Amino acid sequence: MAVIVCHGLKGGAGITFAAAHLAMTLSEAGAEVTVLSVAQRDTLPLHFGLQPALTLPSLFAPAEDAVLASGINLRSHTKAVDDADFVPTLLDLGYFEAGPDRVMVIDVPASEFAFARRIIPHSSANLCVLNAAPDTLALLPQVLGDASAETIARTTFAINALDETRRLSRHSAAFIRELVGPRLIGRIRLDEAVPEAIAMLQPLARYAPSSAALADVRAIGAAMVPALETPGRPWVARGEIAAASSSRAA
Ligand SMILES: Nc1ncnc2c1ncn2[C@@H]1O[C@H](COP(=O)(O)OP(=O)(O)OP(=O)(O)O)[C@@H](O)[C@H]1O
Ligand SMILES: [Mg+2]
Repeated sequence: MAVIVCHGLKGGAGITFAAAHLAMTLSEAGAEVTVLSVAQRDTLPLHFGLQPALTLPSLFAPAEDAVLASGINLRSHTKAVDDADFVPTLLDLGYFEAGPDRVMVIDVPASEFAFARRIIPHSSANLCVLNAAPDTLALLPQVLGDASAETIARTTFAINALDETRRLSRHSAAFIRELVGPRLIGRIRLDEAVPEAIAMLQPLARYAPSSAALADVRAIGAAMVPALETPGRPWVARGEIAAASSSRAA
């Protein structure tokens, strides 16, 4: 089972939103998908239009306890972040292998960056979700400086909740592009339909099928599919590299 880790620098950037919709895109592409939440305060079910009071079963709970949303298996394992044996256990169970058919998307809250760092080296890909905002910009050079070259080589970035009508948001996005270069896999526009869908207890795809954020996050999911073939090897979006080098050449 290939593993994709969704993580970020700051809480509220849209990591869970991205993880849920990445899972939906991969599932629509034919993969058997599990989403694992390791958050103590879990909002993952809301992005699937499920009730807020729902408690997700453990990763290791039997199949009959599964919560399926549009065919996606939703699981929780809050102990994972403090469990030094979590990664070895998953390795023993055959996770972290290549292939597009079975995928686990792990939703890691920004505060659990130490856990993200432990699990990323074993994953097929990881998506770091950023907001185009000054506090993120202030953290980004430090985070890039702390990360190993190997981790950075594996990381793709997405800007979420981008408002191109605002100068600060636009300029912040440009600065992120400078810092992460071809590793920026895409951007997701700020879209009121995202919180509105949660308020209506509906998946975004049902509440607002023509939502701008939905189209953007689906495009990011589709661009990550090649990563599923490359376990343990650095990967970046080839289309983005080609686009970046041709724009440099121009
Ligand atoms: N593109 C977007 N446009 C508008 N609102 C968004 C967008 N993406 C996410 N949101 C909203 O931002 C809020 C935070 O999103 P989410 O829960 O995915 O963030 P997170 O990074 O997982 O936060 P946490 O730190 O709580 O885990 C939610 O209310 C969500 O509806
Ligand atoms: Mg979250």
